[in-house]
Amino acid sequence: MNITASRKSLTEVEADVLLVPVFDGDTPDTGALASLNEVSNGLVRSLFESGEAKSKRNHKVLLHTPSRSVKRLLLYGAGAADAANSLGLQRLSGAMVRSLPSLTSNSAAFLLPPRLANESAVSAIVEGAILGLLEGNIYHSSKEPARQIDSFTFVSESSNQMNFEPAIETARVMAEAVNFARRLGYEPGNVMTPTRLAEQAREMAEREGLQYEIFGENEMKEMGMGALLAVSRGSEEPARFIVLKHLPEGADSTQLVALVGKGITFDSGGISIKPAQAMEEMKYDMGGGAAVIGAMQIIAQLKPNIRVLGIVAASENLPSGRAYKPGDVVRSLSGKTIEVINTDAEGRVVLSDALTYAVNQGATQIVDAATLTGACVVALGDVRAAVMGTDEELINDLIGAGDECGERLWNLPLDNDYGNMIKSDIADVKNSGGRVAGSITAAMFLKAFAGNVPWAHLDIAGTAWFEEEKPYLAKGATGFGARLLARYVLRRAGAQNA
Ligand code: BES
Ligand code: MN
Ligand code: ZN
Repeated sequence: MNITASRKSLTEVEADVLLVPVFDGDTPDTGALASLNEVSNGLVRSLFESGEAKSKRNHKVLLHTPSRSVKRLLLYGAGAADAANSLGLQRLSGAMVRSLPSLTSNSAAFLLPPRLANESAVSAIVEGAILGLLEGNIYHSSKEPARQIDSFTFVSESSNQMNFEPAIETARVMAEAVNFARRLGYEPGNVMTPTRLAEQAREMAEREGLQYEIFGENEMKEMGMGALLAVSRGSEEPARFIVLKHLPEGADSTQLVALVGKGITFDSGGISIKPAQAMEEMKYDMGGGAAVIGAMQIIAQLKPNIRVLGIVAASENLPSGRAYKPGDVVRSLSGKTIEVINTDAEGRVVLSDALTYAVNQGATQIVDAATLTGACVVALGDVRAAVMGTDEELINDLIGAGDECGERLWNLPLDNDYGNMIKSDIADVKNSGGRVAGSITAAMFLKAFAGNVPWAHLDIAGTAWFEEEKPYLAKGATGFGARLLARYVLRRAGAQNA
């Protein structure tokens, strides 16, 4: 999608569809709606009078040929104007493009009210539109032509002479990377194996000019990654340990941010097998890994002056005669021993080695993202991800980065008392603390492998996948975390270079 900002007037603009948000209080007598009413010979006013056009959220009217240059006009209910924050605007523009008929290609113009003629609003609208257009029906053989927008133009009659192109470009980079992460998440487990996930990461790294290393199982064995290898044992598909590197020359060599993702390409639960109900969704158990790979694409393109590693521990979790078992004790890369209580608590096990790897590489901040616990889905649903960690500033930076892009977090506690629940009789730590405080005990387990490095963990189990379609987004993979992690890194680079 080619996105530009223009300052054309309503009489000059040409498009297959003009997208017009209608906010509470907007009338056909003032502003852009008045001009539209004029060029449409009073049609807009009569639609308002009949109640067919109104500001009620997601109420829409689509008109044909109100003028020759604009073939269709979409009047779309946008609700309260003061709710038009970044998230509200992303959802608005996503819902607007999703409400369009499935024409193979469209040129769309978005009528920007003066109030929204600012960088953050324009960014949100671009992101929402790009995210709204992606569909998950990637294996339908006779697909309806995909909804597509070839050119997306902002029409603004505001006196603000600001140049929106940089904001548009950044928003495009962000949203394309989120869609990249979503595509990885939509792929089924038989396609998106650890090997394939590593290939996707490698292709991206080569295209964007990131350095990378991809380790196979022999190399993991040599390094001593006994935890990751234990999870992978039951599977015919070999595990992969993916490291993407953004190491700009001239960046502060004492700083290294590590982004770590859980890349379980299918989680059956292993010997502690899951119920069949919704097990197919466990193909998205690599959502944290996808978020890290997506974030690294953003970082490669926007080039913040800070060193960053993107690390993904990729494996399947399957039962077999070779699979790891409840009661097994495995030795992790850190040297710490882990008693396996439940083979379905595999995410923390593979992450333990990834966290140790990050510590050993000299990371000065570690953030991991993982679809880690069902308990997090129960606690926060698909609205917020949980954040837990050892460093107040890091946690607040992440919450701030999330608020900027509409990926909201909620901080859960990590009191030492919770650590008692994962003490093992036989080993240094056990991989399940039972049902109580499930998200927190999972994080306490991870904490044991982050050493003294400031560390935070995002449990995205609920936010990485939408069970139902939303007006603004297809059902399925959301790519949650890609933008958030990249924004965290950008903020950090900005703070440092300021
Ligand atoms: N991948 C799951 C967590 C999950 C559940 C993600 C639902 C998304 C939706 C994770 O590996 C898991 O199975 N966790 C167990 C841990 C338990 C055995 C201690 C869980 O949450 O039930
Ligand atoms: Mn599991
Ligand atoms: Zn899992």
